[in-house]
Amino acid sequence: MGFSPLLLILCLLLSLPFSSSSPHNSLTKGSSLSVEKPDEDVLISENGIFTSGFHPVGDNAYCFAIWFTELLHNGYKTIVWKANRDKPVNGRRSKLSLLKTGNLVLTDAGELSVWMTTTNSNSSRKLKLRNDGNLILQTLDGVIHWQSFESPTDTLLPQQPLTKYTRLISSRSQTNYSSGFYQLFFDDDNILRLVYSGPEISSVFWPNPWDNSWQAGRSTNNNSKIAILYPSGQFVSSDSFGFLSSDFGTGPLRRLTMDVDGNLRVYSLDKTNSLCTYAHDSGRRCSCVPGYKMVNHTDWSYGCEPDFSLPCAREKSGFIQLRHVDFYGFDEGYYENYTVEQCEKEFFKFLPMQRVPIQIRQW
Ligand SMILES: *[C@@H]1O[C@H](CO)[C@@H](O)[C@H](O)[C@H]1NC(C)=O
Ligand SMILES: *[C@@H]1O[C@H](CO)[C@@H](O)[C@H](O)[C@H]1NC(C)=O
Ligand SMILES: *[C@@H]1O[C@H](CO)[C@@H](O)[C@H](O)[C@H]1NC(C)=O
Ligand SMILES: *[C@@H]1O[C@H](CO)[C@@H](O)[C@H](O)[C@H]1NC(C)=O
Ligand SMILES: *[C@@H]1O[C@H](CO)[C@@H](O)[C@H](O)[C@H]1NC(C)=O
Repeated sequence: MGFSPLLLILCLLLSLPFSSSSPHNSLTKGSSLSVEKPDEDVLISENGIFTSGFHPVGDNAYCFAIWFTELLHNGYKTIVWKANRDKPVNGRRSKLSLLKTGNLVLTDAGELSVWMTTTNSNSSRKLKLRNDGNLILQTLDGVIHWQSFESPTDTLLPQQPLTKYTRLISSRSQTNYSSGFYQLFFDDDNILRLVYSGPEISSVFWPNPWDNSWQAGRSTNNNSKIAILYPSGQFVSSDSFGFLSSDFGTGPLRRLTMDVDGNLRVYSLDKTNSLCTYAHDSGRRCSCVPGYKMVNHTDWSYGCEPDFSLPCAREKSGFIQLRHVDFYGFDEGYYENYTVEQCEKEFFKFLPMQRVPIQIRQW
């Protein structure tokens, strides 16, 4: 039986050395990712949803991070994890290396290691970014030696548990990613709490410190101390706390973030929604609903106004459905389980229509 030429060529292609100029999906022992090639030296999950690599956080300052591959409308990234949030590295010669010893190390320009996994072992292993956004260091037979899910920064991804060993810490500000003042964690009495921990004072602000745990609807009995956001938008905690996101249901990619203002929020990265979305890097981003225009082109707080003349006639008006949108502060009423037709009927009682100053909140 002779060799088929095609087979030979295929074998040659498969045995070509690993090219370092294209994005990898895993990092093997003895290789590294360089800060000087931020676009090429990245790991991308197989499903393409997550990317990890060096992310600029200031003047010549970089963090090794994980983000959603899809950028926000303004071009910013949604960062979900950082290795070295409090010790950014130089934009020259810094690198993340998987050493022959099995240790994953982030070194700064001067070869100083600023972060490491301390996972020395001679067994073969590789670093891989999984489809759920978890960066894992595993042996070739799949035993996990380290995972980013066990050291969250300010964000939990779906299926990433908050445990007795982990806490979420907000960023310092919208533009400074280093550790800030608000924390979410399980306290000694098994209750999930939010705490402001500033330079001078520290105080619990959720649940209300004047209530005891049962008044707050919590239970101290379960010492498993585990909380999790499911992909559906349901959050469940072992102290009996739980909620459903306002857009509950399978669909959008979600994350739970301890925000710089001390609020814990679930965000849905739903590409079909525009209106006001909240971007981690840049704050609010807005657009008007169809048929409306900005009142003041330099300031969103003035809201939107109709781009058609008033009064509008009933026969020329209609309804459009906007999913996951809340006309915050301008509710005419709350009608549970109404169909679009029922809403129209209700609405036409209020004609003629007035200018609608809108502020839309989206989660
Ligand atoms: C972020 O804030 C920390 C703490 O105040 C400060 O040390 C650091 O220089 C700031 N980083 C940037 C990029 O401004
Ligand atoms: C790894 O192998 C080297 C050389 O074979 C040996 O010197 C070292 O002690 C081993 N380290 C561990 C952690 O087993
Ligand atoms: C404690 O909480 C965990 C997580 O919510 C749950 O799986 C477990 O059943 C609870 N244990 C008890 C005894 O209720
Ligand atoms: C538009 O908003 C800017 C910034 O708030 C303000 O200075 C300006 O007076 C506003 N213009 C009008 C016409 O209201
Ligand atoms: C609205 O629909 C939900 C789900 O079908 C149902 O559980 C609930 O009772 C309904 N509410 C009203 C006020 O009809």
